[in-house]
Amino acid sequence: MDGNGRWADLRGHSRWVGHRIGCRAVREVVDAAPRLGIGTLTLFAFSADNWRRPARETAALMRLFHSYLTEDLGTATERGVRLTVIGQRGRLPAPVQQAIAGVERATRGGRNLHLRLAVSYSARDAIVEAARQGARSRPQFEQALAAGEPGAAQVDLLIRTGGEQRLSDFLLWECAYAELHFSPVLWPDFTAAHLEQAVDDFRGRERRFGGLLEDVPCA
Ligand code: FPP
Repeated sequence: MDGNGRWADLRGHSRWVGHRIGCRAVREVVDAAPRLGIGTLTLFAFSADNWRRPARETAALMRLFHSYLTEDLGTATERGVRLTVIGQRGRLPAPVQQAIAGVERATRGGRNLHLRLAVSYSARDAIVEAARQGARSRPQFEQALAAGEPGAAQVDLLIRTGGEQRLSDFLLWECAYAELHFSPVLWPDFTAAHLEQAVDDFRGRERRFGGLLEDVPCA
């Protein structure tokens, strides 16, 4: 979800305003996802490397995550959204950790959308951690990596906004065969229509997973 800072700069606001308006875009996208046929949506909200930003910005982001988790809990349960968090949650402020635990518990029955927030997340750390758990086979390793969420083991479509064209430590193992969609739109301006456009584009892609088209079960 790149571009909050630039969006704010362009309007003479502080970066914090960009993040706050970015939260509005999060709500719109989460709302639209199920009707576009998306079963699992992972939002890269804060990378482990984002801790390098000034404390004022990281603290503002933590407050924003906390208010999102607490304010949107009712809507999530009403709409059948199951919300889980991936990343180093031990590094998050205690109130955020508590809010995550509460939301995960309250929404575990959600069936319309599995929304995953990646917070203080590093794909490389997650891979090292899964390997450290002593997995002896690829299925064991993938199970450890998915942390009990096997539905999220493979990414179909990765969207990056704000004109950046990098993966930046996001779901590196899971993105092996992901289709990539790079959008120039700054995240706060990203709408349901942009998401729909990305999904339409994805549906037109030919996915062969290294084989030939006729071998692909659901192409
Ligand atoms: C990266 O763009 C964005 C972030 C580090 C924060 C993302 C947070 C949100 C979208 C708001 C709230 C999210 C949730 C899940 C409630 P940047 O700010 O570095 O943009 P820039 O490249 O323009 O500087």
